[in-house]
Amino acid sequence: MEELHSALVAPQHVWWKPAGKQEKLWVTVSFVWCMILFAMMPLWHIKGGQNPSGIRARVEPADFVKRTDQFVKDYKVGEENGFPVVAPPAGSDVYLLARMWQWYPVLRLEEGKTYTLHLSAADLNHGFNLQPFNLNFQVIPGYDYGLRVTPTASGDFRVICNEYCGIGHHLMVGKILVTPVGGAAAIEPPAGGFKVLPDAEAAVAAEGGRS
Ligand code: CUA
Repeated sequence: MEELHSALVAPQHVWWKPAGKQEKLWVTVSFVWCMILFAMMPLWHIKGGQNPSGIRARVEPADFVKRTDQFVKDYKVGEENGFPVVAPPAGSDVYLLARMWQWYPVLRLEEGKTYTLHLSAADLNHGFNLQPFNLNFQVIPGYDYGLRVTPTASGDFRVICNEYCGIGHHLMVGKILVTPVGGAAAIEPPAGGFKVLPDAEAAVAAEGGRS
């Protein structure tokens, strides 16, 4: 009987013979490549400098709202369109709350000073996008991201939401004012940017600085 392509009939060809030279070479090359890609994942995370070092802490959304309210109470310096304008001291913990459909509150930071920016959401997933720069973070309820940031330019920055969050998504625009070194609040479009430090030191600062 000829080959039947059936599980009941033994295969007729030569698959049981030892692998040939080319096949061994091919398997070796793909295995080595596999290992390189495998090693690249952690290496890129650590060396690539493009990822913040992940979640710093879990937080109940209600608690994050409370922290933000306390932060506003402590450092409020004015109001703009019904939003509190908050000017925290350099080096402090700064809270920015995302909720349908606003970024709360308005922040006033100083150029060249470093802050720990805590981002979280009260209701659902929002996206932090700093304009006019391409700086993006997912803002997720239940997680507190502590990012160490240093504004490297003064100006009037906008935070837009880039994660669809409902009917008011397109209206969800926040504001970060950066005052120049030793001067009054500037209103010109910024020329520089923000520097985010994704290092281990920042993680420690974020952990230790929370009340
Ligand atoms: Cu918040 Cu879209």
